[in-house]
Amino acid sequence: MQFSNIFFTLLLSTAVVAKGNKTTKAVTDKSLCKQMASLEATVALAANTTKLDAKTKGNATKAAEFQAKASTAATELSTMQSNTTLVSTCAVISAAQDTEDACSQMSALSKLVALAANTTEVDEKTKGNATKAAALQSKASAAATKLADLQSNTTLTSACATIKTAKEASKAEKAAAASSTSSSAASASSTAKSAGSVLNAQTGVLSTVIVLAAGMMML
Ligand SMILES: *[C@@H]1O[C@H](CO)[C@@H](O)[C@H](O)[C@H]1NC(C)=O
Ligand SMILES: *[C@@H]1O[C@H](CO)[C@@H](O)[C@H](O)[C@H]1NC(C)=O
Ligand SMILES: *[C@@H]1O[C@H](CO)[C@@H](O)[C@H](O)[C@H]1NC(C)=O
Ligand SMILES: *[C@@H]1O[C@H](CO)[C@@H](O)[C@H](O)[C@H]1NC(C)=O
Ligand SMILES: *[C@@H]1O[C@H](CO)[C@@H](O)[C@H](O)[C@H]1NC(C)=O
Ligand SMILES: *[C@@H]1O[C@H](CO)[C@@H](O)[C@H](O)[C@H]1NC(C)=O
Ligand SMILES: *[C@@H]1O[C@H](CO)[C@@H](O)[C@H](O)[C@H]1NC(C)=O
Repeated sequence: MQFSNIFFTLLLSTAVVAKGNKTTKAVTDKSLCKQMASLEATVALAANTTKLDAKTKGNATKAAEFQAKASTAATELSTMQSNTTLVSTCAVISAAQDTEDACSQMSALSKLVALAANTTEVDEKTKGNATKAAALQSKASAAATKLADLQSNTTLTSACATIKTAKEASKAEKAAAASSTSSSAASASSTAKSAGSVLNAQTGVLSTVIVLAAGMMML
């Protein structure tokens, strides 16, 4: 199965990260994916004359320059895309990002709904302006609908819960590391140990999110 390969690659890369302080591997996959997305955007823009015209403000010279750049980008992109490991890893990272974004969106929507339900807070926020309050209520009503829709996805809600737990654990670990650093700032070895545990905590969240995303893609 293709996904076990990704798992293995990711596990290996996190192992590398956890061992030394080479954060480069984890960052590299991410930055390669970013680069690929940017190349894709360049190629897509060059292929859309309407968009290209708008971007170059109808300057044909500029448009031709961009076309040339896009042609180089297309070559680079196809080379990168021929690496199926990279393409699969990017899909997993992108799914993880989408899930995190959806969780953040849910959190923001809940806050808005809660705010709208609290007369004191609405009053404060709108400075007693009834027009503004009505607009807020209407926005909150749309938010409630959207929130219910997202909440009906139990895969998403449980993923958000897992991410939240991982983030809290990471935060607690970082706080513990920071306090151990300050209490024995003179000791170089303890500083190094704390730095390592911060790194592990961060890696922990990253791999939790990624493993989660990979799991979802298998559904
Ligand atoms: C970690 O990074 C520091 C500075 O960037 C370097 O001096 C040290 O040798 C590195 N340690 C390991 C285990 O790579
Ligand atoms: C080109 O871009 C315009 C403006 O964003 C969009 O409406 C249109 O659908 C695009 N055309 C193609 C072929 O993608
Ligand atoms: C079009 O773009 C080129 C290259 O950027 C620039 O040299 C030229 O002055 C522009 N022409 C107009 C009409 O703005
Ligand atoms: C494919 O990409 C991965 C990173 O995702 C890299 O480790 C590997 O070396 C690449 N393979 C080739 C043949 O370039
Ligand atoms: C409404 O908001 C105020 C101010 O933030 C808070 O003190 C109060 O407990 C809230 N009321 C309810 C019912 O949540
Ligand atoms: C209330 O808010 C509306 C919309 O923002 C604005 O047009 C109106 O002038 C405000 N009324 C008062 C009394 O401030
Ligand atoms: C539910 O959420 C997951 C994770 O974000 C997503 O992959 C999936 O497409 C969603 N399902 C539906 C029906 O929207």
